[in-house]
Amino acid sequence: MLVSATEMLKKAKAGHYAVGQFNINNLEWTKSILATAQELNSPVILGVSEGAGKYMTGFKTVADMVKAMIEEMNITVPVALHLDHGSYDGCYKCIKAGFSSIMFDGSHYPIEENVEKTKELVKVAHAMGLSIEAEVGSIGGEEDGVVGMGECADPNECKAIADLGIDFLAAGIGNIHGKYPENWQGLSFDTLAAIQEKTGEMPLVLHGGTGIPADMIKKAIDLGVAKINVNTECQLSFAAATREYIEAGKDQQGKGFDPRKLLAPGAAAIKETVKEKMELFGSVGKA
Ligand code: 13P
Repeated sequence: MLVSATEMLKKAKAGHYAVGQFNINNLEWTKSILATAQELNSPVILGVSEGAGKYMTGFKTVADMVKAMIEEMNITVPVALHLDHGSYDGCYKCIKAGFSSIMFDGSHYPIEENVEKTKELVKVAHAMGLSIEAEVGSIGGEEDGVVGMGECADPNECKAIADLGIDFLAAGIGNIHGKYPENWQGLSFDTLAAIQEKTGEMPLVLHGGTGIPADMIKKAIDLGVAKINVNTECQLSFAAATREYIEAGKDQQGKGFDPRKLLAPGAAAIKETVKEKMELFGSVGKA
C-alpha cells in the first residue's frame, strides 16, 4: 500500500521505534526491500536520491515501478516512496511523478531562504497528499553528489523549520553519509535532546544510518528519532555477496552468468541487511 510517511512516523514516534528508509537503485533493490518489509510486517520508506532517479531514467519510471511492484507482489504493509535530499526542482518533479513523500534539502541555503522554500513546498506537498521532510544543519559526507560539512543543527532554526508544518525533520547531529571515519566523535546527543525539546512531537530523522553502533541507534530513538536512513550498508552487502559469487567462479558454472542468478546473492544480502536494521529499529510487526 503506497502511503505518505506522515502516519507511520507519528506512530513510530509515539511507540518509541523508528521506520527505516532504505535507498533504492534498481529493480533488485526495490524488490528485496519490499519483500522484507512484507515478511516482517513492517512499514518501510523507499528513498530515491536525485542521482538514483536519473539512473533509473527518471522519477516517473521509479514511481510506476514501485506502484506496480506493490500490486504484483501483494504488498499490504505501508510503503512510502520518498525523494531523498531533493532540490527545489526535484521536489516538483517527484510530486508530478507520483511519489508519496518528498524531502526538500535546503540546508545549504541561508536559513531565511530555507524557510521560504520549505514553506512553499509544504503547501504544495500537502495539497497533493504527500508528506514532506526538511533539513537543518547539513549531514556530513556525500550522498549521491550532495556534499555536506556535517555541522550540528541549531535547535532554534530547527524549531523555525518545524513550525512550517513539515511532517518530519532531518537535523545534523554529527552524523555522516557513507562509512564513519576511525576518528568519528559519535552522535551529539546533547544537540539531539535540545532539538527534541524545541520541536516536541516532530518525528526526527537520522541520516547516515550505515555503521552507527546499535547502542547509539537505540539512544537516538529514545530521544525522538523516528526515521533512520540506510543506503551504503545495502550497497556494501550487495557488493560483497556479488564478489563472493564471482570469485567462487559460480558465474562460470552452468548458466551462472544468467543475470537473475548473478544478482541473486546480492539481492538476498540486501534482504538480510534490511531485516537486521528493521529488527534494530523496532519496526517489525508494526505495520
Ligand atoms: P548512509 O549511506 O550512510 O547509510 O546514509 C543514507 C542516508 O542518509 C540517505 O539520505
